[in-house]
Amino acid sequence: MKLAIGCDHGGYELKHEVLEHLAARGFDVTDVGCDSAASCDYPIYAKKVTDFIHSGEAELGILICGTGIGMSMAANKEPGIRAALCHDVFSAKATREHNDANILCMGARVVGPGLALMIIDTFLDTPFSNDERHKRRIAYYS
Ligand code: RB5
Repeated sequence: MKLAIGCDHGGYELKHEVLEHLAARGFDVTDVGCDSAASCDYPIYAKKVTDFIHSGEAELGILICGTGIGMSMAANKEPGIRAALCHDVFSAKATREHNDANILCMGARVVGPGLALMIIDTFLDTPFSNDERHKRRIAYYS
């Protein structure tokens, strides 16, 4: 599966642990930046990941900032993007099954790396349910 991942300075350190984990799992991951821990603007990287989803170069995306909130707000402004802010495994599973979320947002100042990797694995390993009721509801905002 092809993935795109982006972060700001708040998520830079965690992103590197995530990249190592995803490589070990054999995912094809494009890292859109940022490329250092220097202060930067998260919407730039949110847009880069949504562009990858729109072009089909990535099936799913991951965005990490300090809280995950700014990334999710920015990503959800883009058409066809269903970005879910998840800091627990239950939400990560439910948002794939029910919302067909195509981007996972997380806050590196909220979760530790152990939980973050569990959330990511759950998100990536859970398919959309394809239930009619969920498709109907998603159509309201997609
Ligand atoms: C950066 O300090 C911080 O505002 C950002 O990482 C994110 O949490 C915004 O929502």
